[in-house]
Amino acid sequence: MIIAVDGPSAAGKGTLARGLAKALGYHFLDTGSLYRAVGLMMLRHGKVLDDAGAAAQFAATLDLTSIADGDLRNEDVAHAASRISVYPAVRANLLQFQRDFARRKPGAVLDGRDIGTVVCPDADLKFFVTAATDVRARRRFDELKGQGGDVTYEAVLDDVMARDERDASRATAPTAMADDAIMIDTSELTADEVLKAVLDVVREHAKG
Ligand code: DC
Repeated sequence: MIIAVDGPSAAGKGTLARGLAKALGYHFLDTGSLYRAVGLMMLRHGKVLDDAGAAAQFAATLDLTSIADGDLRNEDVAHAASRISVYPAVRANLLQFQRDFARRKPGAVLDGRDIGTVVCPDADLKFFVTAATDVRARRRFDELKGQGGDVTYEAVLDDVMARDERDASRATAPTAMADDAIMIDTSELTADEVLKAVLDVVREHAKG
């Protein structure tokens, strides 16, 4: 069983996907961490983010330890990830890893931008998780503040909008809802409510 969870940044897809995997006893892959790991390597090696060749090389040599780095959640890494994720060679080099992961038994939940459309178009269930832009910016702002970050809401809102625009308008595998995906708007819902609603859908599906 493969479950795809896609959507823009800070919509709650990571929380949902992780919760689903835990409740079902499935494997979980946050595919954004792969792009973040490549972005982080670019920054650590002093590469300019325009260097598509270097990014593709890092993507080709990625291993599971690089997606557990504590610095992956930083905002400059998120920005770098969004920048390098436009390069087709980077995406191509990360594709097989994601597809192999998706086949793990007894099942896998993958969250990202293009899981239902490109990585696993044959996923058993696809969800597209979204929320109003100001709600997503507020959540990201609260998260960064909670970590002691020195940020303003306006700066976070600008970042969220710039990243959405880049991720949704790139030529290769942009953020997109698959035709057969179920849309979940989390603007007015708590994380528990989202998880419960989606688990109901998964259990209905399992009954056939
Ligand atoms: O979900 P996230 O914020 O960790 O993702 C970081 C960046 O990685 C995001 O701005 C775009 C890119 N990304 C992607 O292009 N495709 C994916 N499947 C997941 C993330």
